[in-house]
Amino acid sequence: MLPAPTTILNPTAADDQVCWLNGGFVPLATATVPVLDRGFIFGDGVYEVVPVYARAPFRWPEHRARLRRSLAKLRITDPMDNDQWASLVEALVTQHPWSDQFVYLQVTRGVAKRDHAFPDPAVQPTVFAMTSPLTLPSEDLRRRGAHAVSLPDERWLHCDIKSIALLGNVLARQAAVDAGAVECVMYRDGMLTEGSSSNLWVVRDGAVLAPPRDHRILEGIRYGLISELCAADGIPFMVRPILRSEVESADELLMSSATKEILPITQLDGRPVGHGEQSGKPGPIGQRLHAGYQRAKTQA
Ligand code: PDD
Repeated sequence: MLPAPTTILNPTAADDQVCWLNGGFVPLATATVPVLDRGFIFGDGVYEVVPVYARAPFRWPEHRARLRRSLAKLRITDPMDNDQWASLVEALVTQHPWSDQFVYLQVTRGVAKRDHAFPDPAVQPTVFAMTSPLTLPSEDLRRRGAHAVSLPDERWLHCDIKSIALLGNVLARQAAVDAGAVECVMYRDGMLTEGSSSNLWVVRDGAVLAPPRDHRILEGIRYGLISELCAADGIPFMVRPILRSEVESADELLMSSATKEILPITQLDGRPVGHGEQSGKPGPIGQRLHAGYQRAKTQA
């Protein structure tokens, strides 16, 4: 079971933050793992990013379920049950002063002599959790919309696993930053996949198009939410492979993630997204979905 936090801190500086590491809360600034941890050596682990609004984790059951799926796909023993995970997140949130936070959870296969094969017998997984203030996109960015650049998707073929091995995503995000953009729009075999750390949505003729939930993308927790928001608002939602030409001639382009919520992309490769008066501006479907997202936050 999880120990109750002994001191409730009121951290204002990073030095005062606490994190969970292998069974207890310790100061974040000094928390360490052994160098033979397979997360450090091989990137052999999984993670979750859970938004917290007004101190309540948003869509927690869905995040928990995805964590379980990711662990199962890598054959890492789930180190805690549902109640223990929920208690851990609650205790972490309680110990920090921010109303809105994002909780980061990570489980690695554990510490073992370096060998690519899984340790046999299995070792205790390493469990790490921390939280940070949730800083959402500024009003200005939301009004202007984000810039994005197109890139080939050079990642592996298990993007459905929320793996901590993120070098492909890291390089893609840096390429976007180097080009002065917020995110990249990636393609594999001529079809849209996703961004470096977000799902992507194409709006055409009043419908939201979604890339299929297969091994080529991470199924964001906002994927299910956006399909629900569309259903509630009478917006057609179509899951199908999306051609690059359909992205480039989209009426609207949107990105979604735990930390960006739903954000319009208004420029792609230096060209405005959309047509006519809407060109280069956030469009109506994105605005309706953003409004629906804000309502869902208050109803959670
Ligand atoms: N990233 N696709 C990728 C590759 C991602 O890394 C993420 C989220 C998403 C969206 O998933 P969700 O809606 O569950 O946030 C899609 C998180 C925020 C991160 O790595 O920080």
